[in-house]
Amino acid sequence: MDLLELFFIALGSAVVAYYAVKLLLFSRMFFPQLCFPLSKTFFTSVGEWAVVTGASEGIGRAYAFALAERGMNVVIMSRTKETLDQVAKEIGETTGQIVKVMVTDFINPNIFSELKDQLKDLNIGVLVNNVGVLPSFIPCKFLESEELDKTITDVINCNVKTMAKMCKMILPGMENRGKGVILNISSGIASIPFPLYTLYAASKVFVERFSQGLQAEYSDKGITIQTVAPFGVSTRMAGYQQINIVTLSPEDFVKNSLQYLRAGDKTNGSVCHIFLGWLLQSIPLRVLYTECVLHSLQDYVKKKTAQTASRAALENGRNT
Ligand SMILES: NC(=O)c1ccc[n+]([C@@H]2O[C@H](COP(=O)([O-])OP(=O)(O)OC[C@H]3O[C@@H](n4cnc5c(N)ncnc54)[C@H](OP(=O)(O)O)[C@@H]3O)[C@@H](O)[C@H]2O)c1
Repeated sequence: MDLLELFFIALGSAVVAYYAVKLLLFSRMFFPQLCFPLSKTFFTSVGEWAVVTGASEGIGRAYAFALAERGMNVVIMSRTKETLDQVAKEIGETTGQIVKVMVTDFINPNIFSELKDQLKDLNIGVLVNNVGVLPSFIPCKFLESEELDKTITDVINCNVKTMAKMCKMILPGMENRGKGVILNISSGIASIPFPLYTLYAASKVFVERFSQGLQAEYSDKGITIQTVAPFGVSTRMAGYQQINIVTLSPEDFVKNSLQYLRAGDKTNGSVCHIFLGWLLQSIPLRVLYTECVLHSLQDYVKKKTAQTASRAALENGRNT
């Protein structure tokens, strides 16, 4: 056997070993309870309270419910008092936990000192930075967004600034107690530069990089910081798309994603979304960025939105 032959055998073996390890790591995602076990008392062991931003509906509401079901008292925040009060009542009645309502608008840059005062005496074990703004569910070019100046401010304040400010507020208590969990909600589409959702996807890249850096800084303090990056979840933001194997209900998504808390500093939160993330990163960007693909994406979302609207109208008609 000459040297060249040996070199190719070694190279081939290394490639096979590399993909075998990747496959093995990926296969753990099918068995989260087995591979990333969490004790029943895990959440109550990190603190008494959970704080969830954007919790009056959708994914935030589902996190508030799930954490209360796991024994935590919860602080829920959003702009609409009536909806928050209703959610607080439902959580209280279902779980027996205490729920604090904080009405706030994260677009306003001057709210944080007041929030800090209201939170200062709580032993906060979990922070879910969930609030987020998507300028338009129907994909469109940056300059085609309505009220672009306002949109830019809203996206930066809600998706970027709020997360950093909430971490600044709550992380010191966690550091002092040597424990805590911070979940920062990003989006599956942030895994690549995503045209037609450019501003939103870029804001979520900030969420991911910030979280990864923060986790590296604070993991030795007993604090878990994880980015959760879903694809489709049937909520107001996503036009209440029909629930199926790809588009999950907020409750199912949250139940799944909490099982991946120990799966690393980023998760897509469910097997299906993990697979979608892998698929998205495998498509060559040159193919994805062709006019034809982008047009098809726009048409697909428009069609889906129209279908959902007519289904809702039909159901409304039946109920009246
Ligand atoms: N749904 C999806 O398919 C999907 C996919 C990827 C990532 N995400 C991310 O998941 C997170 C939650 O999204 P979602 O789909 O659950 O959204 P959603 O159903 O639209 O709920 C958003 C929540 O945030 C609150 N909120 C919105 N603007 C606010 C503001 N300025 N100040 C305070 N509260 C505000 C809303 O209540 P009020 O309107 O009453 O204030 C509501 O409680 C977001 O960060 C989003 O980017 C969602």
